[in-house]
Amino acid sequence: MKNPKPTAAIVGCGDIAHYHVRGYQLADVEVVAFVDPLAAAREQFIEEYGGGVGFVSLEEMFAAGTTPHLVSVCAWHLLHAPLTVAAAQPGVKGILCEKPMAVGLGEADRMIAACDAAGVKLAISHQRRFTLGWEKGRELIASGHLGEPEFAVTKLAQGLLNCGTHAIDGVRFVLGDPQPAWVMGAVERKTGRYERDTPIEDGCLGLVHFDNGVQMMVESDLDLDGATVGKFQIRGTDGMMEVSETHCRTLTSSGWIDHDLGMPAEQIDVIGGQANGRQTKELLAWIDGKAETHRCSAQSARVTVEIMMALLESARLNEVVHLPLTQSGYPLQLMIDEGKLPSHDKDDQYDIRAFLLRQDIDEVAYAQLRAQGMGHHGIMRALWERREGTS
Ligand SMILES: NC(=O)c1ccc[n+]([C@@H]2O[C@H](COP(=O)([O-])OP(=O)(O)OC[C@H]3O[C@@H](n4cnc5c(N)ncnc54)[C@H](O)[C@@H]3O)[C@@H](O)[C@H]2O)c1
Repeated sequence: MKNPKPTAAIVGCGDIAHYHVRGYQLADVEVVAFVDPLAAAREQFIEEYGGGVGFVSLEEMFAAGTTPHLVSVCAWHLLHAPLTVAAAQPGVKGILCEKPMAVGLGEADRMIAACDAAGVKLAISHQRRFTLGWEKGRELIASGHLGEPEFAVTKLAQGLLNCGTHAIDGVRFVLGDPQPAWVMGAVERKTGRYERDTPIEDGCLGLVHFDNGVQMMVESDLDLDGATVGKFQIRGTDGMMEVSETHCRTLTSSGWIDHDLGMPAEQIDVIGGQANGRQTKELLAWIDGKAETHRCSAQSARVTVEIMMALLESARLNEVVHLPLTQSGYPLQLMIDEGKLPSHDKDDQYDIRAFLLRQDIDEVAYAQLRAQGMGHHGIMRALWERREGTS
C-alpha cells in the first residue's frame, strides 16, 4: 500500500506562512492544521487553501489529537524558541522555523536541545540557499574559480535580525560554510527602533574573521544606496565575484563572465515557489535518511545567530569577541538595560513591521483587496497607510 502523504501544520498564519504553504504544495505535503490566536488569520488560510482545521495554539492542536509530521513556525522572532520547543513533540518529524532562528544564542540552543530530545529534525528557513545564483556562486568558489577567497562584503538594510540573517547566512553559504573565529562590531541605536517586537539597532558595521582566514564585512542600515538582502561581492587571489540570488558574474584574467543559471533571473524564486519547495523536499529527504543533513539545519543557522550576537556583544564590550560566544542573551537588550544605549518611552518606540499587526484592521477592506489579487504584505501596508493618513 502506498504511504499516505506527509502532513504539516502552519503556526502563525501571516505573510510568510503563505510561502510555506506553497512549499508544502510543491513537496506534496498536506497542510492539515492552521494555528493562530487570531481567528481571521487562521480562517483565511482554511478558506484560501481549501481545508485543514484551525487551532488557537499548538497546545490545543496536540490536545485535539492532531500530530502533523511537519510544523512550520511562522510567528515573530521572539516566539520562534517557545513555539519550536512546544512543537517538538513525539510524532513530529521535522520543524521548519522562520529566520532569524532566535534572538540570543541561549534560545537557539534551547530549540536544538528540545528537537534533539524529541528526535525532531530542525531546519531554519534561510530559503535563499536554494536560489540558483547563490548555488552557482558556491560551486564556483569550491572549484577554485577565484583562487583562494579572501574578502566578502555585504550591505543590507532593515536590521541584522531581519535582513542581516539572510545576508550573513548567504555569504557563509557561498563561501562553503566556514566557521567564524572572531568578530568586531560597532552599533548605533539612538532611536526607539523595533522590528517585529524586538529592539534593533539603527545601524551596524561588523567584521567577521573566519577560521580559514577569509574576512567578511557587514554593513547594516548605514548607506541605503544599493543595500539588499542577498547581493554580495567576494574577492579571491585570482578574481572577484558579484553574486545575488538571481545572478552570478565573475571577473578573472579571462574577463567578465555572466554565469548561466539555466533560467532567466525573473523566473528564480527568492521566496516561496521553488525556493520553499526545494527547502521542504530537502527536509523530507533528511527525515527519510536520504540526505545526511539539511543545508539550512539548525546547527548551521546557529552559526549565523552566533555571528550576529557576537557583533552586538563586541559593541557592548568594546572589544574583539573570540568565538565560541559565551553570551547567551541578546546583547542589544543588555546594552539598553545597562544604560549603554538609551532606552525609550513607549511613545518614542516604533516598529518597522507594525503594519503587519492584524488585530485592529478593517477586515472588510482586507477581503476586498485580497479579492483583487493583492498579496498579504501589500494589503497590510496599504491599510496601515490609510489608517496613518499617509496615502
Ligand atoms: N524567510 C524569509 O524570507 C522571511 C520573509 C518574511 C518574514 N520572515 C519571518 O517570518 C516570521 C513571521 O513574519 P511575518 O511577516 O509572516 O509576520 P506576520 O505578522 O505577517 O504573521 C505572523 C502571524 O503569527 C501570528 N501569531 C502571533 N502569536 C502567535 C502564537 N503564539 N502562535 C501562533 N501564531 C501566532 C499572528 O497572529 C500573525 O498572523 C518573522 O520571524 C520573519 O522574520 C521570513
